[in-house]
Amino acid sequence: MENLVKMKGIILHGGHGTRLRPLTHTGPKQLLPIANKPMSQYCLETIAETGISDIAIIIGGVGADKVREYYGNGNKFGVNITYIEQDEPRGIAHAIRLCKDFINNEKFLVFLGDNIIQKSIADFVEKFNNTNSDATVLLCEVDNPSQFGIADVENGKILKITEKPKSPASNLAVTGIYFLTPVIFEIIDNLKPSWRNELEITDALDNLLKKNDNVSYEKITDYWKDTGTPDDILHANGEIISKHPAFQHRHLPKNLSESISITGNVIIGENCVIEENVTIHGPVIIGNDCKVMSNSKIGPNVSLGDNSIISVSLIENSIIMQNCKIHSLTQIKNSIIANNSEITDDHEDEKIFLLGEGSKISL
Ligand code: DAU
Repeated sequence: MENLVKMKGIILHGGHGTRLRPLTHTGPKQLLPIANKPMSQYCLETIAETGISDIAIIIGGVGADKVREYYGNGNKFGVNITYIEQDEPRGIAHAIRLCKDFINNEKFLVFLGDNIIQKSIADFVEKFNNTNSDATVLLCEVDNPSQFGIADVENGKILKITEKPKSPASNLAVTGIYFLTPVIFEIIDNLKPSWRNELEITDALDNLLKKNDNVSYEKITDYWKDTGTPDDILHANGEIISKHPAFQHRHLPKNLSESISITGNVIIGENCVIEENVTIHGPVIIGNDCKVMSNSKIGPNVSLGDNSIISVSLIENSIIMQNCKIHSLTQIKNSIIANNSEITDDHEDEKIFLLGEGSKISL
């Protein structure tokens, strides 16, 4: 495959995903679907779209083999993929250091596999290709700065970068999209593990600032999200279905009954059956081979994975993955339901649960 842009890409796909258990007991969080597509696929496509074609994926932890299986050698996505294993999540900087041979003296872009962005980053890539900066970070304003790496900025310059500060100097989060040069490897070699026992990329960038003050920044003013919690994932799901360029066109089956009410941005896959008197209020995405039975109400902000069946149900602000069966008069709201799950109201006077470790139910 021809290398269109000389830069290389790295996607971080390791870690334990503890905050998303039990969803992450069987696979990495970055493969959890947003608008029916693994979240890390948005990262891969965002990188590929800039013309970068050599991409390393850092894998480790639960279900690393699922990542290899899904992305393969990258052919399906128009890129070349190299897998690099990380034995334990020893930090973002540690993961980047593992890629030194792969990078081989070129500029590169690192994308955390749980960060999601709507707009193209092609302009940032082009700009970085043409600057002498040793690193460029993308900053985005956030409401909860203590949860992120934060940049202290004055007159267009970064003064300091701090990981999850207790008293943040600004609300400018350092997003998980980093433009770097091989200069960072030597800095990482001299890093000490942080209080959370990780080699922090924020410490590496701060040390680079102290060393030569050659770190620049750009601002993301459109949608960016670190999908760390279930609420973040649900939020990203709604935003992506309603605003991502890939989902801008309503897609509905032909010959829908007039008794079906559809409003907002709604995408319905192939071979779906939508019965009489169903209400779908976008943003909603329904996968292939799904059935939505009479009188069900879906949306806003719902994705329904392939092969799922919904009957007499009210579903709002939720992600239902593949092969699920939901037959319930109880409203399902703010929920994430993994593959092959079943919720039924068949037993009127008793509730029956078969729950995996770490499940959460709110009755
Ligand atoms: O999303 C932006 C934030 O990401 C930044 O503002 C912070 O400065 C940065 O440290 C990072 O913070 P998080 O606490 O959210 O990082 P987390 O541990 O969730 O890891 C981010 C991604 O990288 C996640 O997809 C898992 C992956 N990862 C993480 C570590 C520590 C690895 O692949 N290997 C690792 O060793």
